[in-house]
Amino acid sequence: MDLSTQYLGLKLKTPLVVSASPLGLDVGNIRKLEDLGAGAVVLPSIFQEDIDNEIEEMERLICEGNSEAFSYFPAHLADNVGPKNYLDLIRRAREAVSMPVIASINGTTRSGWIDYAKQIEQAGAQAIELNIYFLPTDLTQSGAEVEALYVDILTAVKQTVSIPVSMKLSPYFSSLGHMVKTLDTAGADGFVLFNRFYQPDIDLEEMTLLRDLKLSNKAEIRLPLMWIGALAGKIKGSIAASSGVQTAAEVVKYLYVGADAVMTASALIRHGIGHMKTLHDGLVAELSAREVSSLSEIKGKMSRSAVADSAAFDRVNYIRILRGGKYGQ
Ligand SMILES: Cc1cc2nc3c(=O)[nH]c(=O)nc-3n(C[C@H](O)[C@H](O)[C@H](O)COP(=O)(O)O)c2cc1C
Repeated sequence: MDLSTQYLGLKLKTPLVVSASPLGLDVGNIRKLEDLGAGAVVLPSIFQEDIDNEIEEMERLICEGNSEAFSYFPAHLADNVGPKNYLDLIRRAREAVSMPVIASINGTTRSGWIDYAKQIEQAGAQAIELNIYFLPTDLTQSGAEVEALYVDILTAVKQTVSIPVSMKLSPYFSSLGHMVKTLDTAGADGFVLFNRFYQPDIDLEEMTLLRDLKLSNKAEIRLPLMWIGALAGKIKGSIAASSGVQTAAEVVKYLYVGADAVMTASALIRHGIGHMKTLHDGLVAELSAREVSSLSEIKGKMSRSAVADSAAFDRVNYIRILRGGKYGQ
């Protein structure tokens, strides 16, 4: 069975991608995940704050004329700043596996960290996933300003590197399709749909804010499923699904609506990395049962533009559902 797919212009042996998470911090894990059926890995994010802090620290040392800093970072200061460990992780991951290694940068403003993308490329990452985890809680900031920020950061990173750059987005744009199309035109090589935002809860006993992280469940595939179905075939960039994959069934659904790759983090954390083999073998079994021998036979076959009943993606459907009297648990 041919499970190969193209994602960000890279050839993946399978569409199963390890999503950005601490699982990618251990090169031993990454190697095992490849053996178990992963087609690519996204390393956990390096944060703008980490990078900018290190740049600031360097500048401080230089301003103070710290000779040790000068001797350590002599001529090519700008080329060498940035958290070294992350670059090291990229190098070690590249040496350990043949599947593509995608680095992830998480930032919200255009600043010194953008140059770090170049070092990520030089360390051997085959693509960069940009996660702009931005919460527009400033009531004076308009939607257009927020959107311009995304385009600005993408453009800056694209000017800095020649490897593909994907955008990991949240669904919270007033016109998501237009936003994706704008980023597509601005040069994004792909989209990861969607990023999960982690909102705080309140502990009523302690009267404190809770910052815990809930792993996903399969009901969460519906929003990305709908949007991937609406966007597939209408943009140049590739699409990776992210959110809610627990079993091979979710993987197959994402492929049917047009995803080029399907990412998973929560399920691997919940069940252990051996679950990658369960997903892989389950995918093969699902496709065999449908007498399908390659992904191209199913990819996008249930996208919005492919199905006869595209109203299922629309407002008409919303009205029917509300009046239909069928309730899932
Ligand atoms: C423990 C944990 C750590 C994560 N770390 C990152 C990260 O560093 N960068 C990022 O872009 N997403 C991160 N994510 C989000 C995942 O990559 C993924 O987009 C999200 O969990 C939805 O996929 P899932 O339903 O398969 O978990 C993390 C998720 C989890 C559960």
